[in-house]
Amino acid sequence: MDILDKLFSRELTRRTGEKAIKIDTNEKAKTRGRAKFLGSSALKASTKKSQKPKKIKPSKNSKNPSKNSKTKPKNIPKPQEGSLFRRLNIRFPMLKFFAVLIIGTAAILDLLDFTISKTYDTPAKIQTAPMSRHVKVSARSLTGKKLIILTFDDGPAPATTPKLLDILKKKGVPATFFVLGTMAKKHPDIVKRIKSEGHTIASHTMYHQSLPRISSQAAAADINEAKSVIKNITGENPAFTRPPYGNYNAAIQKLIDTPIILWSVDTLDWKTKTTDSIVSTALSQAKDGGIILMHDIYPTTVDAVSTLIDKFRAAGFEFASIDEVAKIRGRTLSNTPYYSFYP
Ligand code: NI
Repeated sequence: MDILDKLFSRELTRRTGEKAIKIDTNEKAKTRGRAKFLGSSALKASTKKSQKPKKIKPSKNSKNPSKNSKTKPKNIPKPQEGSLFRRLNIRFPMLKFFAVLIIGTAAILDLLDFTISKTYDTPAKIQTAPMSRHVKVSARSLTGKKLIILTFDDGPAPATTPKLLDILKKKGVPATFFVLGTMAKKHPDIVKRIKSEGHTIASHTMYHQSLPRISSQAAAADINEAKSVIKNITGENPAFTRPPYGNYNAAIQKLIDTPIILWSVDTLDWKTKTTDSIVSTALSQAKDGGIILMHDIYPTTVDAVSTLIDKFRAAGFEFASIDEVAKIRGRTLSNTPYYSFYP
């Protein structure tokens, strides 16, 4: 008789008033009592078992149960897997608590998908500026939406750009501004506002020249002057470059150390200058992952933007930044031209 049996017999005697030796032969009662003694969590399982003794699988050593029961009872039911697990939970409640805490925190962070810092790979042969920057990825859901990118060229202009920024802020729409170096230099406060409101600052060169038509040195000077103007205002190099008129060639491409962003949707806002035609032209050409070209220097363009946003959203589109779309589409941007980010 082991120590546990002794203790159990004494406890049982104390509770029932019967002699321990009498109980010792009563296997059923002993089984039930011992389970009770072992712990309340094991009680249910062992009680169940003892109530249905036929289901108890005899162990290898219990070929002669009557003999064994008098000396060393072998068929005392061990706690079932379920009850053992429950007992472990009782012993390690902190372990369970921390597991839930860690999994919960990870799930919340994944859901929110807040500020992401990303670095773009660029071809090694081309000398590039550091392109690591913070990308604002808001908590709004872009999954299941057709994505569209708004871009504005030739500004900033004090008569129109602040009004446009008000609309974008109200509607919660991010945009990319391809600022002209000369305009940025004149209106640094607007450039700062564009940046502070979460939009992307990009370069449209300094003087809006068709770069392939001028000498390589002149083109390099134009690109670099705009770059330094933007860096002086924002503290950062322009994220992207759009050569004027979309004109570039292999030589120009080598001079540009950012991704070259062109467009897939031309609203012709500079030509048509009516709100209706700007909106309908944009809608008729737009596809998931498209880039819309507009100019923030025309009042009609600014007037069209609010309606354009509403109509695009009604058609199942959502506006996203270039970085957001590139990330969602799994593109690693290099300093090559991009017309769209179609799936
Ligand atoms: Ni332009």
